Amino acid sequence: MKEYEYKVSAAGRINIIGEHIDYCGGKVMPAAISLKNTVYIRLNGTNKINLSWTTLPDKVSLDIDKLESYKDIKYGNYQAGAALMWQRAGHKIIGCDMLHDCTVPFGSGLSSSAAIEVSTIVALATIAGEPLDKVDIALKAQQAEREYAGVNCGIMDQYASACGKKDYVMLLDCNTLECEYLPLRLGNYSLVITNCNKPHNLIESKYNERRAETDEALKILKQKLGISRLAELNGAQYKAFHSSLPQVLRKRVEHIVSECERVRIATLALKAGNMDMLGGLLNRSHASLRDNYEVTGREPDALVEAAQAQSCCLGSRLIGGGFGGCTISLVKTGSIDEFKEFVYNSYLQATGYKAEFYNTDIADGITIEKLI
Ligand code: GLA
Repeated sequence: MKEYEYKVSAAGRINIIGEHIDYCGGKVMPAAISLKNTVYIRLNGTNKINLSWTTLPDKVSLDIDKLESYKDIKYGNYQAGAALMWQRAGHKIIGCDMLHDCTVPFGSGLSSSAAIEVSTIVALATIAGEPLDKVDIALKAQQAEREYAGVNCGIMDQYASACGKKDYVMLLDCNTLECEYLPLRLGNYSLVITNCNKPHNLIESKYNERRAETDEALKILKQKLGISRLAELNGAQYKAFHSSLPQVLRKRVEHIVSECERVRIATLALKAGNMDMLGGLLNRSHASLRDNYEVTGREPDALVEAAQAQSCCLGSRLIGGGFGGCTISLVKTGSIDEFKEFVYNSYLQATGYKAEFYNTDIADGITIEKLI
């Protein structure tokens, strides 16, 4: 059997702050991490993409001329969706074997799906000898998530997975796709990522529901304010016009307005190295996700509370779409072991679930290695 020709990977991501803001056209602050999806690829001279996994016994064969027909398969649907969107954009897909190795835990809020979609497109483009346009790849991967996987997501995950840089966070304007890279300097503090390990379901439908609510709120506010994105709304406008919104939408918009403001201040805090301020913003972000956006839940709340109860922790919040998954906490580097022990025990006692901690660095989004 021929050797694999390339090893390509795309990263999972964290998000320091700016949750549920990407699809409202505001700024977010993600970073690519060293947990990633790696694809080993070689040409196979057929009209099929043959998929296998390092962690699964399954093998799946995708017919290049029928890529639209794999939406309901258990494994391989993200790869099929990504390949289809790439093909629809006018790229030639060549028959190949792909071995996937994913270290991003599934359903953890660390964007395993974006990592799979982005790495699949990068692998296909690389084996075909095409030049890479990372932003374009992110947009096609997002299209796969929306039109194939059925999650009406924003651009944050795929952008971070494709365009992340080692040791930098991205201040990404999701309206213009302009991105400022900020060095992640946390002084004596580190980010600890913790999985609440509560299996979540219905995440897709609840995510789409939140997104529809923000669309509805925008429709109402547009008539009064002439804004084109919810992220344009400022605090004074919200105060003046919030009574025109039904109760639930009012809470959703309050999250968007306050979270955009927190991203603005977090940028200043990061640039100034003010960790207390950054930590306080993480805590307030979580409170707003819990009370206004209502995307947390008993387990994520318990995990965040356990973290926040520690004096070595300046702030903690749930990241990603919500309803489960991971939190990030800003913790004094010298106290990380005690922090983990305390959080593990107190979360176990409160919920019966075992929290899991990941050692991960801020890494490059895409990496490509020629193997032969
Ligand atoms: C998911 C989506 C992103 C973003 C986050 C919430 O990860 O894929 O586009 O909306 O949720 O910030």
